[in-house]
Order: sequence, then structure tokens, then C-alpha cells
Amino acid sequence: MDLPITLTVNGVARRVMIDDPRVTLLDLLRERLELTGTKKGCDRGQCGACTVLIDGRRMNSCLALAVSHDGADILTIEGVAEGDRLHPVQTAFVEHDGFQCGFCTPGQIMSAIGLISEAQAGDDPERVREAMSGNLCRCGAYAGITDAVLDAQVRMRGDRHAGPSRHGEAA
Ligand code: FES
Ligand code: FES
Repeated sequence: MDLPITLTVNGVARRVMIDDPRVTLLDLLRERLELTGTKKGCDRGQCGACTVLIDGRRMNSCLALAVSHDGADILTIEGVAEGDRLHPVQTAFVEHDGFQCGFCTPGQIMSAIGLISEAQAGDDPERVREAMSGNLCRCGAYAGITDAVLDAQVRMRGDRHAGPSRHGEAA
């Protein structure tokens, strides 16, 4: 039996027929909506490569059943830049060498955006590492990732003073 669901994905309303209630949000994004920036690493909640924001909260999309999120607002890596203007977290990852092969990077960036929005780590590198510990990096780019998150927080504080922001940034 087909189940219709409606999602807002990167600001665009998408109506999708689900033919199997076991379909994960990750597979829906990658295979039905062609949003392949979200990566499938372990497919069992252990690596964080599939992290997206669901209603502003970071979540492993491989563990999320698509039908359970009917009506949700989804933000993926494809939706964080504004045209040619990178999101401050993307810019910080580039400037701090927060990646090597890049496979984990979409998940790292989505997790970092969520973390900064949660405002739970402050400026403490140890707390940033702890809060990002669900995102594994086989290349070991952790030092750059931590520096990037800390730098992006500062950049986004500046953006906030300049005016309203979009896409899960700290309010
Ligand atoms: S693919 Fe989802 S946590 Fe690894
Ligand atoms: S940059 Fe290669 S897995 Fe993280």
C-alpha cells in the first residue's frame, strides 16, 4: 500500500509516495529525491555520515523512518549555502582543513550547524569534540573539524548581530 507523505526539504515542499513503511529518510533523500550529498556510511547509526536536520534537530537519517516524519522540515547539505555564498560552517571547514577525502563532511557540517544552534558546547574544544563525537572521520581530520566548529560559532555570532539568519543557525 502506498503511503503519501509531505516533507519540506531545503525549503521546498515535496510530496512523496512511500511504497514500503521501512524506507528510511536517508534512502528517500538519496534514491527518490536525488539528494546524494547526505552519505550512507554504516546505515546503522554508528558513523554520522547521514546527519541531517529534522525540524532543526540533528539526526541520523539512516535511523529515521520516512513515514514517521510526515510534515517535517528537513535541511540537508544541499540546502545550507545561499547560492554561491557558503554557509559560515562550510567556509570554516575549508579554511581549517576540516576534511580530507570529504566523505564524512556533509554529516559533520550538518552536525556542526545543529550543535551551534543548540548552543551547548560554548567555546570549549573538549565540549565541541564530545558534542561532535557521533560523527566519525576515517581520515582523522578531527583537529580541523574542532577548529572549524569553534571558528564558525564566532562567525555566526557576528552574523546574528548583522541581522536574521536562516537554516538552523543560532538564533
Ligand atoms: S549511515 Fe547513518 S549513522 Fe552511519
Ligand atoms: S574527511 Fe575522509 S572520512 Fe572524514
